[in-house]
Amino acid sequence: MKHPTSIQIKRIKHFLELKDIDKQDLKDILTLGKQIKVMQEDRKYPSHPAQPLKGRSIALIFSKPSTRTRVSFEVGIHQLGGNPIVLSTNTMQIDRGETIADTARVLSRFVDGIVIRTGCTEHLTELAKLSSVPVINGLTPASHPGQVMADVMTFEEHKGPIKGRVIAWIGDGNNVANSFIEAATQFDFILKLATPSNYLPSKKVLAWAKSKGADIHLTTDPKEAAKNADCIVTDTWVSMSDNESEKQQRLNALPPYQVNQEIMRLAAPDAIFMHCLPAHIGQEVTANVFESSQSVVFDEAENRLHTHKAILIWALMGDNWRDYSSR
Ligand code: CP
Ligand code: NVA
Repeated sequence: MKHPTSIQIKRIKHFLELKDIDKQDLKDILTLGKQIKVMQEDRKYPSHPAQPLKGRSIALIFSKPSTRTRVSFEVGIHQLGGNPIVLSTNTMQIDRGETIADTARVLSRFVDGIVIRTGCTEHLTELAKLSSVPVINGLTPASHPGQVMADVMTFEEHKGPIKGRVIAWIGDGNNVANSFIEAATQFDFILKLATPSNYLPSKKVLAWAKSKGADIHLTTDPKEAAKNADCIVTDTWVSMSDNESEKQQRLNALPPYQVNQEIMRLAAPDAIFMHCLPAHIGQEVTANVFESSQSVVFDEAENRLHTHKAILIWALMGDNWRDYSSR
């Protein structure tokens, strides 16, 4: 009888936080996302022979509402030949008390990957710890990495390489802002964040970015952040996981951080405006900025589809994932 001389441990490729993923992999995921978009635009996609998810099922767990994340993953998995299974936690045993640990171990016996949007950040880490299939972060109160991958792709489509460029985040220091800090570190762009002093981004994420030498500037002055920026980005003042009782406090504190024409005039003349959506017109952004020619918000939404497909290929196709676009 032959005895193995070494034990091969298969590394599971979770897509949890941008800071935990190899820098080159992140860049290559974006390149693949751009190639996938071209294939689709050339209408090659329907007859494209490579359906890497053929015969595979991916569970999409949502404990919070979603339009873009849910539909882009569902359509993307379908286009890659796979079977998406959309699950709301209120129709699962999770909402009757079944643990995330048991859910992870059960789903791993059925599906080949799990996407999760949760209102509890620990659920993402617990799921990844116990799952034997890749787990993809579809938003937590702490981060939204898939969104920011699409944002970087959108910036590059409109403005060229993001390295060394200036992005201004104006508004709440929320989950999307945290992922922007990680993206600035991984993709080497300059990030200026203007937030009220009581709505700062995560101290832990800022400390990590600082330890990596990232070019991140914090201010409470939106005009200072906007000055000569290549892109102005904002998000809702009240996120899905924010405490309902603090809603009014936020709505009182954030109006000085509205992105309006005055802010856009301070940015570079050809600056773009981004927002992950859904938008609250008249709150974080005015209608004339949202609807202006500088606004690229719907390209940004579309790019969720292309980047999610690239993330799925990265997570599920093993070491040969980069070969996908040449098939
Ligand atoms: N931007 C974003 O994640 O949108 P949804 O909440 O609609 O998924
Ligand atoms: N910060 C927002 C993003 C929505 C996509 C939220 O968490 O509700």
